[in-house]
Formats: sequence, structure tokens, C-alpha cells
Amino acid sequence: MCGIVGYIGYEQASPHLLRGLEKLEYRGYDSAGICVYDGKILDVFKSKGKLKILSEMIHGGADVKGTVGIGHTRWATHGEPSDINSHPHLSGSGKFAVVHNGIIENYIKLKEHLMRRGVKFFSETDTEVVAQLLEYYYNGNIIDTVIKVMSKVHGSYALGIICIDNPDQIIAVRKESPLIIGLGKNENYIASDIPAILAKTRDIYRLENDEIAILTRSDVRIINTDKEEIKKEIQHINWDISAAEKGGYEHFMFKEIMEQPKAFRDTINPRIRGDRVVLDDEINLTPEQLKNFSKICIVACGSAYHVGVVAKYIFEQTLRIPVEVDIASEFRYRNPIIDKKTLVIVISQSGETADTLAALRESKKCGSYIISIVNVVGSAIANESNDAIYTWAGPEIAVATTKAYSTQLAVVYLLALYFGDILGTISTMDYNKYLSELRLIPDKIEQILENKENIQYFASQQFDNKDIFFIGRNLDYALSLEGSLKLKEISYIHSEAYAAGELKHGTISLIEKGTLVVALATQEDLFDKMISNIVEVRTRGAVVLGLTCEESTEIEKCTDFTFYIPKTCDLMLPSLAVIPLQLFAYYVASLKGCDIDKPRNLAKSVTVE
Ligand code: F6R
Repeated sequence: MCGIVGYIGYEQASPHLLRGLEKLEYRGYDSAGICVYDGKILDVFKSKGKLKILSEMIHGGADVKGTVGIGHTRWATHGEPSDINSHPHLSGSGKFAVVHNGIIENYIKLKEHLMRRGVKFFSETDTEVVAQLLEYYYNGNIIDTVIKVMSKVHGSYALGIICIDNPDQIIAVRKESPLIIGLGKNENYIASDIPAILAKTRDIYRLENDEIAILTRSDVRIINTDKEEIKKEIQHINWDISAAEKGGYEHFMFKEIMEQPKAFRDTINPRIRGDRVVLDDEINLTPEQLKNFSKICIVACGSAYHVGVVAKYIFEQTLRIPVEVDIASEFRYRNPIIDKKTLVIVISQSGETADTLAALRESKKCGSYIISIVNVVGSAIANESNDAIYTWAGPEIAVATTKAYSTQLAVVYLLALYFGDILGTISTMDYNKYLSELRLIPDKIEQILENKENIQYFASQQFDNKDIFFIGRNLDYALSLEGSLKLKEISYIHSEAYAAGELKHGTISLIEKGTLVVALATQEDLFDKMISNIVEVRTRGAVVLGLTCEESTEIEKCTDFTFYIPKTCDLMLPSLAVIPLQLFAYYVASLKGCDIDKPRNLAKSVTVE
């Protein structure tokens, strides 16, 4: 979603703003702009399209004088992507400049109200309402005015504001959309996410809802809407800066695919002590509470939801508790039957996804206990859960998730073992087998990555397909959902995932000569069934890529091309089988020349509903 940056210091602001925006490009955007106070006016430069266009327009920032500024990459919600709708937006007289991430839900009402009083609007955006309201209510005190405007607008917003009357300040406000403050020496920053400021400082504050930060060159004050000072802990970011750089790879997505063995190890190793999974530091549930749950609800969006679909099979198998999996945006409006006997597990890489956060809050209201599986430390979802278990994937920059998916799955295995142990639902023999297999997963992922050229070759034969189907049964079906999403989001090839047995209830009519079907057949007890389904589509002309385990040569006999993954216990096969699917999507998109890290229309963290 939109990216916000701001700089106040003694250096020229515009190169800082452009550099920061470049680091936020991964969030997805369709236009960009900056505003710098040049000593006389709030000077705005903005343009539809890539940041490069804006940067060229102002010669990398060299043309823009001034040491205080705000910048923005916009992912259009209200009003088409255009120069005029790009941020920053100015108030009528040019007194205020505003950048915004989020949605002002009551903007039409507010806009009409202002228009009736003679305020002229220039864009179709909800954000312009904030700029115009600031000017409309301005009483000479910028903080009072910001608080007044906050009381008028409904919705979600992270705002960066500069005012011509206070040119030595940036005001930042957060409600539901993420915003951090970077603390430098004689300079300070605002940003939507850490990569934007990492080259400059590792010390940050994370703004919470309804907090207002007042930045000067030497100081940052944080207050609430009652103007009470808020003392915040400085969070020190200890990522290696290269974690947020491409490090010689052509794309972040490929780098992140290759980082999966490490990310998986970093996630499981600190939680395995001797021959046990230990989550006591992170989970505060008592065994009695755990035994009292009558069901588990897993709630998430997109790929994180797909992890949930895999988790359903794993938890039901190991814990013998019924599991429901829901898409967060559906869950919150279906009046779910949950109470204090329900354990709700929310899964989110960013920890800021608006629908997942809302589902979490809904569940809390019903008295459910919330465990979140989150990658971003200190994010809203982590903060608002009863317990947060972090995936130690490091920063994920590519829009299409890979290492977050893998590490979320790693946490699911840890939870299954930990809870299974407490509940006594896993035999000692199975526990030991699962744990020793879990430790081997990173090595086996490495083995698959060493064979990536086989997938690359297959992709080179198949990258111009119009439709691709993914089929599988049980865990393989859960995984085919992710394989299909990965492919469509970055290669723009239409793709669908089907439970293999369901195909002949409708979808098989779409199979014709040359249609590519990716058949996932990793689950040994379902081989025969899968073979029948593969034969059914091949008889109708499909070209079949089979994905199966080493030594399972039956599948090869009925496919056009087969990719083998190492063997592990059935429950853990998704952690291995997902890797060739990610590689396939990556190579196809690369051969098609797509913008892999920033696919069209997509945003990395979806902070609006
Ligand atoms: C797909 C993808 C998305 C996210 C979804 C949830 O590759 O990345 O489907 O999984 O938007 O995001 P988080 O995990 O941040 O809640």
C-alpha cells in the first residue's frame, strides 16, 4: 500500500525522500510525489508512474532546495492513478501539505461540507479532505488543529504533515496504518516501514493508534489527542542492512526464495531444546486452558490463509481438535460462532493487514484467546494478540511472499508438536519422528534449490500458457492454492487450484489440448487417486507437470515432466513441495518479463479493507 517518508535535518531533503521512497517501492504504488519547504513555499513535485519518472523530473532531487520535506508512493484507492491524485496534497492556499496512507471513510460527507463553505477541491482523493480540513480549522496552533481534524475524520490513516507557519516541524499521526519515526543525529525521519530509514538510523519509535509525533531537527515528541506526553521505548533494529538489499540477486523474490533454509532454521532452532519443542517463553496458555478449547479458528489473508489451510490438516491430525480456516475479510462479517472455548490463530507476515487485524479484534470481543504468527516485531497484530510467535524470516521485500510462507508453516509445526505434547495427542514415537524430520527440512529445501534448473527448464517450455491448473488432494490441495496464487500474482497467467477429486464436477470442461496442469502428488496414501485424476486430464489433452517424492516413480509414468522432492513425513511435505512451485512462478514471470518484485495492482501490506 502507500508509502510515506519524511525528513527534517540540515541536509537537502529531496535526495533523502527519493531514497526512502525507493526502499518502499516494494509496497506497491502507481504514482509518487514529494513536497519540500523551500524557504518560501511548500514546493510539490509529483507524477503518475514509477518513482524513476519523478526522480528524473527533479534530477534526483538536486533541483529541489529545502531541508524539510515529505514524500509518498500512492497505491490508488480513491481516484485513478494520475499526477493530480498523487500525494502530497496541498490545502487551498498552500499552507499545509499532507501525505496519507489509509482511507478516510467519511470523506464524501466532509468534502461536501467544505464545498458548501466555498472550499475548492482539485483531486478525487480522500486525502485532500485532510489537507483542506487542516486549513479550514486552522487557528494558528498546528497541534490543536491536527487534533481537531483527527476528531472529524473516520477510517484509517498514517499522515505526514508540514505547515508553512511551522517550517521546522513535521507532524506525524497514526490510526490503524503503520508509521515509524527514525531517530537520527540532528535529523529525524518518518516512514511507513524500516527499510526506508535503515541506511540512516537503526533507532526507531513505532507510533501507536491516535499518537501524534512532532519532529524537529533535534527532537521528537510524542503526545496523545489529550496533548499528554507519551514516553516510548526506542526500538533498535538489528537487521543486517543487506537483509533489505538485493545482494547481487536480480530480484528480491529470488533472494528470498534462496534464503528459505536459513529463515526456516532461524525460526525453529531457538525453539528446539534437546529433544523438545519449547514455546513456554512465548505462549502463556496453561495446560488447563489448552485442554478446554473445543475448536481452533485460523484467520488470515492470501498466502497466510493458505498456510492456515495446510495448518488445518496438521492440527487436526496431531491435536484432534476441529479446525476452521477463514479468510479474514469473510470471517469478520459472518458473525462467527466463537467464544472463550475457541483458540484463534491469526497469521500475518506484516502484522498490519487491516482485515486480519479486524478479525483479531472481533475474536477478542468474543472472549477467544489469540495467538498470532507474525514476522514484523512490534506490529499491531503482534501487539494486540495474547501471544505472538515471531517467524524469524527477516525483512520480506518482494510482494509475493515466499520465506514468510515457509516460516509460518515452520511455526505451525512447532505449535503442533508443542500442543500435541501437552495434550498427549501425539505418541512419543510420532513426536520424535516429526521433530527429527523438522530439523532436516532446511537441508532438504537446500537440496531442492540445488535442482532449481530443472524447474527453470520446464518453465522455459511452458511460460506462454494462458491458463494453468493446479490440482492435489488434502495437503497437496492446500499447497496447490499457494502454487496457483504465486503464479497468477507475478506472471499474470490465469490459474486455478482445484481439489483433484472435484475437477470432474465442473472444471474439467476447461481442459483442452495443451492445457498445463500441475499435479501435486506427494501424499503416498493418495497416489492411486491422483494417478486417476492425472490420467483423466491427460486423456483430454492436458500437459502434466507432476510433483512427487523421490522414489515414487509411478507418477512419472503418467506425466509429461516430473519434479522430485526429497522424502519426509507426509505432514511436512508442504514445506518442501512449495519450493518448486515458488520457483516455477518465478521463472515463468521472469521469462515473461514481468515486474516480479512489484506486480501490477498489488501491495505488500494491505492496510485498507
Ligand atoms: C501473496 C501475498 C499475500 C499476503 C496477504 C497477507 O504472495 O503475499 O497474499 O500473504 O496479503 O499479508 P500478511 O501476511 O502481511 O497479512
